[in-house]
Amino acid sequence: MELSPLAVFGGKPAVTAPRPHEVWPPQPTEVELAQLAEQRRTDISIRGNDGPTGELEREFLAFLGGGAAYAVTFNSGTSALLAAYFALGVEPSTEVVGPDLTYHAALSPAFALGASVRVADIDGETRCIDPAGVAERITERTRVVTAVHQWGHPCDMDALLALRDRHGFRLLEDCSHAHGSTWRGRPVGTFGDAAVFSLQANKAVFAGEGGILVTSDEHVHDRAVLLGHYRDRSRDSVIDPLLKEFWVTGFGLKLRMSPFNAIVARNSLAAFPDRSRQRHACLNHLSDGLREVSFVEPVAIRPEATMGAWYGYKPRLRPLPDGVTRDLVIRALRAENVEVGVPSGPQLSTQPLYRQTRHPLFPSLTSVRNDPAGQPVAAAIVETALSLPTFNNWPEDKAVIDEYVEAFKKVDANLGRLAPE
Ligand SMILES: Cc1ncc(COP(=O)(O)O)c(C=O)c1O
Repeated sequence: MELSPLAVFGGKPAVTAPRPHEVWPPQPTEVELAQLAEQRRTDISIRGNDGPTGELEREFLAFLGGGAAYAVTFNSGTSALLAAYFALGVEPSTEVVGPDLTYHAALSPAFALGASVRVADIDGETRCIDPAGVAERITERTRVVTAVHQWGHPCDMDALLALRDRHGFRLLEDCSHAHGSTWRGRPVGTFGDAAVFSLQANKAVFAGEGGILVTSDEHVHDRAVLLGHYRDRSRDSVIDPLLKEFWVTGFGLKLRMSPFNAIVARNSLAAFPDRSRQRHACLNHLSDGLREVSFVEPVAIRPEATMGAWYGYKPRLRPLPDGVTRDLVIRALRAENVEVGVPSGPQLSTQPLYRQTRHPLFPSLTSVRNDPAGQPVAAAIVETALSLPTFNNWPEDKAVIDEYVEAFKKVDANLGRLAPE
């Protein structure tokens, strides 16, 4: 079949659906709005653990199928991560090992505790931390290894748990992209010594701003509560009598979630199974279509894993003809009205916080120097991946997904012509 000329050369764009093609977060229901109004009339603060934050915590534990014993809400994923690192014993002179390609807040809170971070390379298929890279980065100072289930794909938990057994570090899961994803049938968030889920607005389960820490370890629970929830919550839920003595002051920080955010999160958690089914139908359809395009690799899912949430759809480019770059491909796809970009990077090892040994921000800290050249797979993903929308409405979005696939096929048929003369 003769395809029309590329839009970048003056042809008609393949995608006719008006933008934006990805709309997230979804609009609230009337029920959610009524709950928010009612909360405004009754209580606009949370002191103990009554009301929507306590309900959200109970519902979140049920969502994890009983795989964790305690849940503690926070005002952001970043705050929950700070509490997790504190609770797991990160302190000055200790180290955290984490992936070089992820959102920085998965790891950066460790610096606030005086620790430093050693980044490891990622696995090209899962895009998560490579267990072989973890093994290379472990030192006698390693306290925590952070497994970020990047873009919704679970990390290789068999290998990471085996390393934990061998080396004795604490394992933290960052499940911010992966609500509902499983590894060998078990939900992510139930493998580590603690796990954190960001509930920020872009996430599949969202509060607007918020985060939740889960753990089955009493001690981790107590320390996390005391770090961010002084007074009533600490008095009511800290278990260890020695730690409970600190309930009035906690450890000084107030990192609580507001009841309004908890209401939003409860509603989005309840809607998640249906929304996730729709997202899967959309993205499986997109993957099927992209299999017919020679220059991209659709996102792969390991046989041990299921995706719950997806966080973006990030296919990788195959080697391109001479003179054709990713930028030229993106320009051609955008001219076809495809919402395409590059995944958010950069490698953390390129950032001053991770690259410098002395920090103007933390004068007393001498941290490890990370070098981007040490993580070639992360560098390759940064250079060769594309970012496409996580379509959310099935079957409504089928037509626009089909148009996306047509746009890719058009570019495929004309790939060599993208090279400058
Ligand atoms: C992997 C990961 N961890 C942590 C965070 C931080 O979460 P929050 O924005 O809720 O503080 C994010 C935010 O995007 C993230 O993607």
